[in-house]
Amino acid sequence: MAVDLLLGLQWGDEGKGKIVDVFTSKYDIIARFQGGPNAGHTLVFNGQKHVLHTIPSGIFHDNTINIVGNGVVIDPVIFKKELEKLDAQKVPYQKSLVISRKAHIILPTHRLLDAASETSKGKAKIGSTLKGIGPTYMDKTGRNGIRVGDLELADWKLKYRALANKHEALIAFYNVDVQYNLDELEAEFFEAVKTLKSLQFIDSEEYIYQAQQQGKTILAEGAQGSLLDIDFGTYPFVTSSNTTAAGACTGLGIPPSAIGDVFGIFKAYTTRVGSGPFPTELFDEYGETMGRVGNEFGATTGRARRCGWLDLVALKYACQINGVTQLIMMKGDVLSGFDMLKVCTAYKYKGDTITHLPYNIEAENIKPIYSEFKGWQADLTGMSKGEELPQELNDYIAFLEQELNIPITIVSVGPDRKQTIVR
Ligand code: IMP
Repeated sequence: MAVDLLLGLQWGDEGKGKIVDVFTSKYDIIARFQGGPNAGHTLVFNGQKHVLHTIPSGIFHDNTINIVGNGVVIDPVIFKKELEKLDAQKVPYQKSLVISRKAHIILPTHRLLDAASETSKGKAKIGSTLKGIGPTYMDKTGRNGIRVGDLELADWKLKYRALANKHEALIAFYNVDVQYNLDELEAEFFEAVKTLKSLQFIDSEEYIYQAQQQGKTILAEGAQGSLLDIDFGTYPFVTSSNTTAAGACTGLGIPPSAIGDVFGIFKAYTTRVGSGPFPTELFDEYGETMGRVGNEFGATTGRARRCGWLDLVALKYACQINGVTQLIMMKGDVLSGFDMLKVCTAYKYKGDTITHLPYNIEAENIKPIYSEFKGWQADLTGMSKGEELPQELNDYIAFLEQELNIPITIVSVGPDRKQTIVR
C-alpha cells in the first residue's frame, strides 16, 4: 500500500493534529517523520482539548499504531510528560506507540545550547522554541548524537557524559548568561529515560516495509510547515529538519515510489510565530481580529502568532515542492464577519512583478500584490455540509483551486473533530 503524507504548507500551526486525528480511522499506522517537541499538535473531541508534541496524532484511536520515526528528535523529559497526560486519560499506549531506534535524543544540554545560541544572536535570533531542536540535529549531522537504540547499550552513559561535557564547553564559549543546574536537569533526564525505555523500540524502516507488504495503510504526519523547511524555508528563520515531502522518505525510510496522496494543509489566512520575513503580515485590525478570533497563540510556547493575508505565491511554492495532490483549508470560520479579504497573488520585487518565491523575501525587497474578495458574514462553525457554505466562501475556494490547480477536498470550520466538511 502507498504511504500518504499530511504536511503543513505555511509556517506551521495549520491544524495538522486535528486532521490527522480525523483521518486516523482510515489508517492502520500514523507515523511522525521529523521535528520534535517544538511541535504542538492540538486535537479537540468530546469537548476536550489535547496537545501532542512528539507523539503522533493517531494515539487516541484504538487499533492504530503510532510510530515515532527515525527523523524525529525526542526529549525524554517532555515525552514523559506527554505520556503522563495520556495515563491520566487512560489511553492504552503501551501497545500502540512504538519508537524508532534511529531517532535522536535531545539532551538537557541541547536545550541549554539552544538558549545560549539564541541569546548570543541578540536581535537576529531565530525565535526558536528553545526545545534543543537545532543543537540536536547539529549533533545528528555532525555524527555525535545519541540515538534511542543507544539507550539499550550498557555503556550509553559514557557516551552521554562525553557529549554533555562537550556541550558545557560550548555553552561557556558563547559567553552569555545561561543559568542552569546540570545535576537537577540530569536527574530528571535519567528518570525520563527509564520511562522511555519502558516503551517498545523498533527498527522502524523494517517495520514500515513489512506493514506495507501486509497491505497496511500508513499516514505520515508532518510537523511545522514547508516554509520552515531547513532547505526550502525562509532560511535562517527555519527549523532544523526537512518538513517537506522528501523529509518523510528520510524520516521513515520509505522510498519516493511508495508515496500516494500528499495532503497539504493551509489556513485561509497566514500565521507565523518567531522571527523572519512574512510579506503579507498585517499590523492593523484585520490582523488583530485573526489573532483574537483564531486564538493564534503557540500551542508549545504560548507566544502570540503574527497574522496576515493568505500568500498564494508562497502557497504555490509549497504545493510544488511537496507535490500536493489534495488541499485542506483550515480556519475559514475565523474570517466570518470580515467585510473583505485579500489574497497575495504576486510580489513586486526589485521593480518587477514576480509570481515565484525569490531567494530573499525580506520586507525591503518585497511588496505583496493583492486580489480582493468580498467577505462572508455567516457563522460557519455549525455547518456540516458543503452546500451550506456561503457563496462568498465558495468563490474564495474556487479562486484558490483555480490558481493552485489542486482540489480543496476538506474545509475545516472549527477546532472540533466534528467541524470538518468534506467536499
Ligand atoms: P525551533 O525549531 O524550535 O528551533 O524553531 C525555529 C523556528 O521555527 C522558530 O521561528 C519557531 O517559532 C518555528 N517553529 C518551530 N516549531 C514550530 C511549530 O510547530 N509551529 C510553528 N512554528 C514553529
